[in-house]
Amino acid sequence: MRETSRLNGEERARAKRLPEASTLLAWYDVSARVLPWRARGGAKPDPYRVWLSEIMLQQTRVETVLPYYAKFLARWPDVTALANARQEEVLSAWAGLGYYARARNLHACAKAVVSEFSACFPEEEAELRRLPGIGAYTSAAISAIAFGRKATPVDGNIERVMSRLFAVEERLPAAKKILARFAAEMTPAIRAGDFAQALMDLGATICTPRKPACAICPWMDVCIARTRGDQETFPRKVEKAEGKLRKGAAFFVLREDNHILLRTRADKGLLASMTELPGSEWSAEYKESARTAPIPGLKWKKALGVVRHVFTHFPLELTVYAAGVPKKTRAPKGMRFVALGALDEEALPSVMRKVIAHAREFTSERKRTGRR
Ligand code: ADE
Repeated sequence: MRETSRLNGEERARAKRLPEASTLLAWYDVSARVLPWRARGGAKPDPYRVWLSEIMLQQTRVETVLPYYAKFLARWPDVTALANARQEEVLSAWAGLGYYARARNLHACAKAVVSEFSACFPEEEAELRRLPGIGAYTSAAISAIAFGRKATPVDGNIERVMSRLFAVEERLPAAKKILARFAAEMTPAIRAGDFAQALMDLGATICTPRKPACAICPWMDVCIARTRGDQETFPRKVEKAEGKLRKGAAFFVLREDNHILLRTRADKGLLASMTELPGSEWSAEYKESARTAPIPGLKWKKALGVVRHVFTHFPLELTVYAAGVPKKTRAPKGMRFVALGALDEEALPSVMRKVIAHAREFTSERKRTGRR
């Protein structure tokens, strides 16, 4: 039974004119976004490419993923090549894409596919889900897109489309179940992968959060929210409390030969195994000071302003301190000096790239104005 229990009588009656998958597929045939992981002209999709793209696309926009996807594919053209890579190489190629557990899981998953499945990805959702980094959404996406299985990945875009089509009044996140049920019921047995990607494209290009382009939507006539005129108010959401602001210090030590001091984070927790500048803990109670500096006794200069970064669970503000050291300076235990020209090889997360850019701007401005 189609789930219409949340609709009022009139809406339920209207929902009987159901949105047809075939209408959306016909639209997709002429309007699909051209994306490098999509097979074209009836070609068979490559499961490795589909998997790689789906992992990269978790919580990340298509435009951000494109250059990373191209880089990974050029460097590791198949799952065996990726499985044979060193973890540090994979992490540093991933640097800047965020949510770094994904990179570690990507590598672990490649190894598992090679060792447990003779380098062939399994087709079933349940089997895919047992692999590292593959959850409910990604297993459904791979199963449908790479293997044409009847599976329904449901992301935020698809939830929005469903919430509008059926004017679902229940609030997210509680509404997730009913929205997923709507999407699953509409999924056709044939072309399930195209249907999933058509929904993604519809959500990304037409059924957008603000100012949806309803006039050119293939489901314009059957969308309940659109016929009521309140489509932009969907999906309904519960207000969520933002994490508490954390603060901390980061130290930019510039050696005369243009090397900076770096270290590797612990292999567990946030940004595990990534590269960072030495710094204080990040906490809501942090009080500004250069007390936690990695090399005591230097003339620390505080850069103007702070570096802001928003993680999934909290926003962060870092105060940046900079100091110069002579060429012969050795790195303290557990740290290393790295040439500024070699930073691309480091697994530097976005927050640290921002810190380095901020510190470099500050130190070159001081040099320019003759202050040391
Ligand atoms: N987001 C997640 N998977 C996607 C895909 N296959 N195409 C476009 N956007 C996506």
